[in-house]
Amino acid sequence: MCGIVGYIGSQQAPPIILDGLKRLEYRGYDSAGICTIFADCADIRRSEGKLANLVDLVGLIPIFGEIGIGHTRWATHGKPTEINAHPHQAGPIVLVHNGIIENYIPLKSSLREIGHTFKSETDTEVIAHLIEQRMKDGAGFEEAVRQTLLQLKGAYALCIVCESEPDTMIAAKHGSPLVVGIGDGEYFVASDIPAILAQTREMVFLEDREIAVFRRDGVAFSTITGEVLSKATRHIDWSPLMAEKGGFRHFMLKEIFEQPRAVQDTMAGRLLEEEGNVYLEDLGLTDAEMAGFSRICIVACGTSWHAGLVGKFLLEELCRISVEVDIASEFRYRNPVVSSGTLLLAISQSGETADTLAAVREAHGKGAKAIAICNVVDSSIAREADGVVYTHAGLEIGVASTKAFVTQLVAISLFALRFGRATGAISRERGIELTSSLLHLPAFIEEALQLDTAVESIARRYHNSSDFLYLGRGYSYPIALEGALKLKEISYIHAEGYPAGEMKHGPIALIDENMPVVMLVLRDRHYEKVVSNMEEVIARGGRVIALCSAGDSETAQKAEAVLELPSCAEIVAPIILSIPLQLLAYHVSVLKGNDVDQPRNLAKSVTVE
Ligand code: AGP
Repeated sequence: MCGIVGYIGSQQAPPIILDGLKRLEYRGYDSAGICTIFADCADIRRSEGKLANLVDLVGLIPIFGEIGIGHTRWATHGKPTEINAHPHQAGPIVLVHNGIIENYIPLKSSLREIGHTFKSETDTEVIAHLIEQRMKDGAGFEEAVRQTLLQLKGAYALCIVCESEPDTMIAAKHGSPLVVGIGDGEYFVASDIPAILAQTREMVFLEDREIAVFRRDGVAFSTITGEVLSKATRHIDWSPLMAEKGGFRHFMLKEIFEQPRAVQDTMAGRLLEEEGNVYLEDLGLTDAEMAGFSRICIVACGTSWHAGLVGKFLLEELCRISVEVDIASEFRYRNPVVSSGTLLLAISQSGETADTLAAVREAHGKGAKAIAICNVVDSSIAREADGVVYTHAGLEIGVASTKAFVTQLVAISLFALRFGRATGAISRERGIELTSSLLHLPAFIEEALQLDTAVESIARRYHNSSDFLYLGRGYSYPIALEGALKLKEISYIHAEGYPAGEMKHGPIALIDENMPVVMLVLRDRHYEKVVSNMEEVIARGGRVIALCSAGDSETAQKAEAVLELPSCAEIVAPIILSIPLQLLAYHVSVLKGNDVDQPRNLAKSVTVE
């Protein structure tokens, strides 16, 4: 979390840095800051709260310079105050940091013992002091940085400038993402591609324990121990327009409406209709390897974990292989039973989630292969996995994941189809049926999006409720969890998702005439059971909002509010159900006057534990 940006070149750095920070604000928005080196002096502006406050400050007290660094913060150590905002300075050194320095307490004590005083409560400030101390001891800027990095435990993406070497900027990475943009006689550094996409599409991805030293005449890459590296430049296809709202009031709404296109892009060139099969270009597994696995472990966090739960249903149903789904932060610390017969499937939109990345490493350490389902190309998880299925959702800016989730469901379906065809669990005929259901998906999503006005009026009716319950069975159960998460994230209303059959074992006690209950009642194999659960809710005075199949007048008559969805194959139903639930959360959040795209306390990429 936290976003960092750096610039060195012949343009004024502040507008480039502020623009980059704006595009990174999804990573954190507790405070922000900028520093330039101008006339051999560090000029720093910092402010509490959102980036807009920093922009106002820079408007009042302008800042100049052709080299500079910036930061948008998601607080870990120390309150989100101005004093804790980055950049942090010690002597001639000024830096911005994304990550957590785990051994900062002993480092800070030793620095205090030799006379250093600290202004902030952050872990970051010790890095600046350590570099300063190394320089006092005689090292040059670059050498002092290297020596300091060797002392740090934890994660960092750093961008550092120095008053006594005003034409040098250093970036370093370990455990937190960092990308370098190559311009014409100028260089950019950022936590994520979108921050610098308007400046250049030529990017170099730093790996862990690597540093980049920028001088006016070029950049040199090396490991932190000094081994010189020759790094490949990658051309990034994303268009800068993807980072604009395109006439929508919020990024989240734009991203919800982009889903037909995102799904289409995720399937494009991959469905082999006549063979009832799928082509996955970067999967990195042979048919024989797939047939050799006895078990699949899915690991992910948050919304991606919900996609994993749908994945379990799909893979077990279609491929007849045993699947476990684990929350990555639990998996990594519980000594999981994983061996070479286990395939790990790591799902992550950002490809940078620290716990999911650690789960991949844990599985690798135990001899398992890992396949990633990621949206961000060349992200850490995508790079570390043995193969990857990219979701082509495009850039997702809204903190609440929508199109990334839906495309994860598509990618899992594609993977299941490919896996089942490779192992023989799915026949050609069944494969043809499944590919055809997937091909109809974008049209079904378009239809579901037409419910927008109806969903908005439901939101108006219920947005003052203090709690919501979401119930579903089978494939609809993870979608109930996801619907509840979406509502919590952006409306701050307490919401719980539950398997409908489990309701009578506890949550039924919550139901009264004030409790809206979102029931997912599609005409599938669970239909009658869910209808019975709905009756149980109604009998206790609960207010049912039903999402049912088109033409289900029986359900429509019983529910207080109803949304009818196009009838579709079971494999695509979870996707269709997700659309009105995203819209419901969105409209409730707008009605409550919340910041839809940047909900409180959250960040888009969780690169800390
Ligand atoms: C989604 O709405 C959430 N903001 C969050 O749960 C997210 O899905 C989670 O942090 C995992 O992120 P990832 O997919 O980038 O790994």
